[in-house]
Formats: sequence, C-alpha cells, structure tokens
Amino acid sequence: MKRLIIAIDGPAGAGKSTVAKLVAQRLGYTYIDTGAMYRAVAWQVLTEGIDPASEAVANLAHKLDMKLTYVDGKTEVFLNNQDITDDIRTPEVSRLVPKVAQVPELRAVMLTLQRDMAIAGGVVMDGRDIGTHVLPNADLKLFLTASIKERAKRRWHELTSKGYTIDLAELENEIACRDKADCEREVAPLIAATDAVMVDTTELSIDEAVTEILELCKERQTHV
Ligand code: DC
Repeated sequence: MKRLIIAIDGPAGAGKSTVAKLVAQRLGYTYIDTGAMYRAVAWQVLTEGIDPASEAVANLAHKLDMKLTYVDGKTEVFLNNQDITDDIRTPEVSRLVPKVAQVPELRAVMLTLQRDMAIAGGVVMDGRDIGTHVLPNADLKLFLTASIKERAKRRWHELTSKGYTIDLAELENEIACRDKADCEREVAPLIAATDAVMVDTTELSIDEAVTEILELCKERQTHV
C-alpha cells in the first residue's frame, strides 16, 4: 500500500499535533512537528539575546545543527546536541516564535530541511505552510480549525497541567495575536491550500477527528 505524505496545517490549538501524532501512530508513519523547529530557533534567539527581527536570525539559520527525534509519542528536539525538548514550550518562546518565523532566510532553510524529511513518504507533517509551500504535492492536505474560545481553552488546560499559572482571557488574546502574525506575514502565511480538506474540530473529540482523517487516508491510499 502506498505510504502517503500527509500535510496538516491550521492555527494554534486546533488540535493538529494531537491528531497528527495519533494518525501517524495508527498508520505506522513518522510524525514531524515543524512548529518545534521554529520554536527551537526562537529558543536560541532568546537564549543568545538576539534581536528577533535582525539579520542575525538569518545568519543563525545557516549554521543550524538541529535534530528532531520522535520517541514514545514525544518529539525531542536537539540544538547543537543540547536537549531543549521542554525549553521550547515555555510561554516566552511561544510569544517570540511568530517574530522569528517571519524571517524569510530562516523559512527557506526550514523548507529544505522539512522536504528532505518527508521525501521517502509515510509521514504526517504538521505546521502552518505545509500544504501550501513545503509539500505542495502531498497526497492528503488537511486544514484543522476550531473556534478561538475552544483553542484558548485547550491551551489553558495544556499549560496549567504543566504547572503554569495563566489567565484564560490573556491566553485567548495571545492566541489571537499569534494567529494575526501567522496569517499576515509576507512569507508563507497561514492559509489553507486550495485542495485542503477543512476539518473543524470545535465540536469533535480527538477520536472523532482521528477517525475522520483515517477515512480520508484510506480513500487516498486506494485512489492514488
Ligand atoms: O505549532 P506551534 O504552535 O508549535 O508553532 C509555533 C510557531 O511557529 C507558530 O507561531 C507558527 C510558527 N510556525 C510556522 O510559521 N510555520 C510552520 N510550518 C510551523 C510553525
């Protein structure tokens, strides 16, 4: 059976990574979290005190030594052999990453890395520009959405379960700002590919979303 290339895009909190991981697991595919790659760069920018809009980010992009592994349902991220898996999920990194993700040179480097990772097929890659730019020939493109209230609620649960104290209204506002930055940037903005299947997860359980997507995968496997 053909090993598909599956692209999943959508805004923060739409359920992309949860659903993508489960779909990959059920199909025996590799899961690639491209947001983690941008987060890793943002973490380095933060750690080194670099101006996120400066040329220094582009310079950094050209000498990146980044490794992503997927172990026991968790994406592990290494930068210059340092394990930064947990460091990239802090609210500080979340706030900085949309600025860093706007740098065209960085996006170009990421695009090449991500295409190389997907080339053999049997992958589920999630992000913001996967169906539109990184993998325009993907076998299946999905665009996951959910209402902003629902997305904020999901992120709030995720962060509070990790011990962060965060105000729900503040989080909703932050997500709205990130959406705006992701949608309005000049290079590779967050937008659904014209041939993407839209999946609104507001009222769907994780299981329901995964089942719907696996059905679509089955169709593509038998029709391509
Ligand atoms: O999916 P996430 O929340 O971990 O993504 C973190 C940030 O990275 C988010 O602001 C959008 C950006 N991003 C991007 O610009 N392109 C991608 N392919 C993936 C993420």
